[in-house]
Amino acid sequence: MVRKIGVLTSGGDAPGMNAAIRAVTRIALNNGVEVVGVKNGYRGLLEETFIPLERGSVSDILDRGGTFLGSARLPGFREEAMQDECVKHLRRNGIDALVVIGGDGSYRGALALTKKGINCIGLPGTIDNDIPGTDLTIGFDTALRTCVENVDKLRDTSSSHHRCSIVEVMGNHCGDLALYTAISCGAEMVITPETGYDEIEVIERLRYLGNAVRKNHAIVIISEKITDVEALAKKVTLNTEFSGRATVLGHIQRGGSPTPSDRMLASRMGEKAVDLLMEGIGGQCVGIIDNSLTAMPIQEALERPKASRKHLYRLFDRLV
Ligand code: F6P
Repeated sequence: MVRKIGVLTSGGDAPGMNAAIRAVTRIALNNGVEVVGVKNGYRGLLEETFIPLERGSVSDILDRGGTFLGSARLPGFREEAMQDECVKHLRRNGIDALVVIGGDGSYRGALALTKKGINCIGLPGTIDNDIPGTDLTIGFDTALRTCVENVDKLRDTSSSHHRCSIVEVMGNHCGDLALYTAISCGAEMVITPETGYDEIEVIERLRYLGNAVRKNHAIVIISEKITDVEALAKKVTLNTEFSGRATVLGHIQRGGSPTPSDRMLASRMGEKAVDLLMEGIGGQCVGIIDNSLTAMPIQEALERPKASRKHLYRLFDRLV
């Protein structure tokens, strides 16, 4: 029987994490289960920074970005000795089960702890939308809204000055944020890990848009970690009709009040996590697939290939 559940947020923060913590807390308390917040991700397990969570502890956080528990990256958590230490701390504090909100690295930690006897459930929390076993992650919709709002603004000034705006968005090694932004903003080009990158092709395409199509401005959305966007903007200025300008949206994408969709997703996933733990289930992650809430073993999710976005790249091409 589960008497005390811990909840932690790990990896890069994402809007909606607070909504998930709130859901886990309120639903567990309403089931007569005690709840403990773990500060700063897995590091909090190591340092035993546990705080009891009551109904009121999670008031006024639903609409706030970030995570009030704090988050951290702890690569050392892969080591078994560290995991054993954390299990000892969890047991000493009477914590029987854990909800881990984070990315795939956090899922691996949750799986390791489950194997050591502490049932864990993973919830996908990241703006990157790169977690296997779900169509959507908590925070993606809000980050997308931030990207769209900002690119819309860049289009205003680009069109006034006949410029090409090269906008770098986050996503780690996943192109979803760039692709969805590009479609939503009517960008002229999108470059992601999935499209690949060829600088000569990019310049040729922009020359074509400037000379043959006579576009007076262009927006290029590019995923992070592909190329130096400042250098690319200079080459655009030198080699095309457009004057190039680079903008890196950066960590602004990780902040802001979560959208209603993210609040809903986080609340539904939080509910599912508590229900699974109450049934004595661990080592699973919650996802939303084809609009239905699902749960599957973490191991299975990690082995699943990433869902194809071919249809969306095709849509992008047909819209330009
Ligand atoms: O995983 C979320 C994310 O924002 C990625 O998009 C990005 O690559 C990374 O985290 C940045 O990490 P940090 O905030 O540690 O620099």
